[in-house]
Amino acid sequence: MAKKGTDFVCQNCGAVYPKWQGKCDACGEWNTIVEEKIGGEGFSNLTPKHKGKIIDFVPLVGSQEKLERLTTGIKELDRVCGGGLVPGSVILVGGDPGIGKSTLLLQACAKIASLPINPEVYYISGEEAIDQVRIRAKRLKLEHAPVNLASATDVKDIITTLEKSNADVVIIDSIQTMYLEEVESTPGSVTQVRACSYELIKLAKRKGFTLFLVGHVTKQGAIAGPRVLEHMVDTVLYFEGERGHHFRILRAVKNRYGATDEIGVFEMQDQGLVEVENPSALFLAERQGNISGSCVFAGVEGSRPVLVEIQALVSPTGYSSPKRAVVGWDSNRLAMVLAVLEARCGMNLSSQDVYLNIAGGLRISEPAADLAVAMAIISSLHNKPLPHDMVIFGEIGLSGEIRAVSQPTSRLKEAHKLGFSSCIIPPTHNKDKKPNNTDMTVYEIGNVQRLINWFN
Ligand code: TYD
Ligand code: MG
Repeated sequence: MAKKGTDFVCQNCGAVYPKWQGKCDACGEWNTIVEEKIGGEGFSNLTPKHKGKIIDFVPLVGSQEKLERLTTGIKELDRVCGGGLVPGSVILVGGDPGIGKSTLLLQACAKIASLPINPEVYYISGEEAIDQVRIRAKRLKLEHAPVNLASATDVKDIITTLEKSNADVVIIDSIQTMYLEEVESTPGSVTQVRACSYELIKLAKRKGFTLFLVGHVTKQGAIAGPRVLEHMVDTVLYFEGERGHHFRILRAVKNRYGATDEIGVFEMQDQGLVEVENPSALFLAERQGNISGSCVFAGVEGSRPVLVEIQALVSPTGYSSPKRAVVGWDSNRLAMVLAVLEARCGMNLSSQDVYLNIAGGLRISEPAADLAVAMAIISSLHNKPLPHDMVIFGEIGLSGEIRAVSQPTSRLKEAHKLGFSSCIIPPTHNKDKKPNNTDMTVYEIGNVQRLINWFN
């Protein structure tokens, strides 16, 4: 049972329990619940209590101030933020430790500070000493950018300092190292992370600067993950990538000032992160010709079409139950595609192991990849390669029907631009929505059974 003034808080999602338990019912994670002092009434005791005043209501119609966005000069970052940084907005940048968050933000703040309008930029590191940041800046050849650098962790000090400044952009790296003395729990705990963010966000809104908060994604219970902050901030960006790959993807999962699902693609090189303007070309760069089990999916990430190679390997199983392994796609979706192929096409996959890989380290969440996955699996099973210049997209329904997906024209345009000359796509029932690309050979397929014919 919790002592008076303490609660048991899940460090992953922030759910509160009266006593300790092994698994968090809210997010399903194990061993993330930790006893925390809640310091009186959380962080409400940090602001002086005042008597309520009458608030004014206004009609929905009215004039709004135009959002003046600050473009950072890093196009991939600007696009993910919805076209630049909005003053007074708060952006949470989450990601695994070591993925490149500090590198990205150091590059961004150097670029912003060097803009001709001379924005005032503050980079506050709680993780690294000044020398460490300087070494990185030197390595990135950014040491002459007029960035105000400090190493600090006490939020009271940071607020007092920023209060006197004319900051335009402030970076806090990372929020899990910050603390407020009034809050009794340790830095990195849910209560601290929330209280510090609350105070910093309040300041950003009042002073009108853009605030970047860096948050580590963590599976260990001792440090609170960025998920506990997602509802407090305006924009949530996740920086992801496979450890072994040099591609890094910045993905917007929430954005009050722009579209979500937008991605920015970077390549981690010796001299920092380099923007990738044409991700499709990069993801397809290492594709081999005439290999069975490989096909190209024409996907869409946010507003941008992205072509990726999907690889499948089907081989007779040596186990009593066949193995299914997926990298970069949803394993439930793979199970569904396999079930449809078995039930509707009479394929026997119960004695086969199935491995699926999205080449290049990209994670795809679109159901539009179903058809390409099915095609890669059939190609591997029959050991027959697909035409090298073909792209595929379409969603598969449980009765085996192929369903239309969004933005077929822009998918095909991108494919054509990269030299693909044929495609397998869902049937277009509405003539107006027919992709108007006459330069490609288009095969419209209405049912998965027809896929098998490709290999007979
Ligand atoms: P970092 O930005 O410190 O990650 P995070 O802040 O997300 O924890 O990135 C660290 C990794 O990036 C480290 O493994 C080294 C690599 N890196 C490069 O490959 N090139 C570079 O120019 C820099 C600065 C880092
Ligand atoms: Mg870092």
